[in-house]
Amino acid sequence: MKHYLQFKDFSADEYRYLFARAALIKHKFKTYEKHHTLLDRTLAMIFEKASTRTRVSFEAGMYQMGGSVVHLTTGDSQLGRSEPIEDSAKVISRMTDIVMIRTFEQTKIERFAAHSRVPVINGLTNEFHPCQVLADIFTFIEHRGSIAGKTVAWVGDGNNMANTWLQAADLLGFTVHVSTPSGYEVDQSIAGVRAQKSYRVFSDPLQACEGADLVTTDVWTSMGYEAENATRMQAFASWRVTAGMMAAAAPGALFMHCLPAHRGEEVDADVIDGPQSVVWDEAENRLHVQKALMEYLLLGQLE
Ligand code: CP
Ligand code: NVA
Repeated sequence: MKHYLQFKDFSADEYRYLFARAALIKHKFKTYEKHHTLLDRTLAMIFEKASTRTRVSFEAGMYQMGGSVVHLTTGDSQLGRSEPIEDSAKVISRMTDIVMIRTFEQTKIERFAAHSRVPVINGLTNEFHPCQVLADIFTFIEHRGSIAGKTVAWVGDGNNMANTWLQAADLLGFTVHVSTPSGYEVDQSIAGVRAQKSYRVFSDPLQACEGADLVTTDVWTSMGYEAENATRMQAFASWRVTAGMMAAAAPGALFMHCLPAHRGEEVDADVIDGPQSVVWDEAENRLHVQKALMEYLLLGQLE
């Protein structure tokens, strides 16, 4: 049994399969062709943080594959009344076929997975957001072909998205130019990858964008860090993706943002709503890649 707790849980070959499978699943979705490979399977979705895209994409995706979903939050389950995560894992995984969790510490999802009888998917933790980068790379491939050898500029917080991009670069053979304010750097012991091989650090965000094939950013304050908001607003003021940064990137560079976005903070409106932005494809692709992911975790490779 496999889990998907961080990006490096899969090999480059497994990603090749998943991207091809997601393309097929997307095509069938667009042509109203049924794809009921998960008939009668049940997905449990556990949310300890808010969500729009993750919830809709997993929930709609599971129904579209013939299955059903159970939606749990901290507030309306015993999870919020301190039932041990290990006990919750044992119970939930006896009643469902696959589990998606959005929570705080990565150790929490690891403890759940260690006591689960069924595959567990990371729907975002403080440390990682692998489903999002899966969708992002699928989106890049759709627009520009293979990401191997390309350069991705990360402008902003050294957060869960940044860590996941670094793991993806390490695995799929591209480079990330990381620019964060001081004090918000990526921690290579958390990301689990080495600088120089998969990423290079830039103090100037404009320099990080020079020649990049993809420029991407995220909110200045991630969920769970709201108490730091005022300090972060000051620290991140120069880490806004601007039209000037997009102009410094390679011709035809794409812009991505996992959303939700704050126009005028981490990105200017003319960038996110401009011609290089593919954020709506990126959001939609969560649906298609996660269908491929759930299918793979439950049924293995099908072709
Ligand atoms: N990008 C993303 O995971 O969005 P949600 O927080 O809306 O799920
Ligand atoms: N880094 C953000 C991503 C939201 C999808 C957060 O963790 O809140």
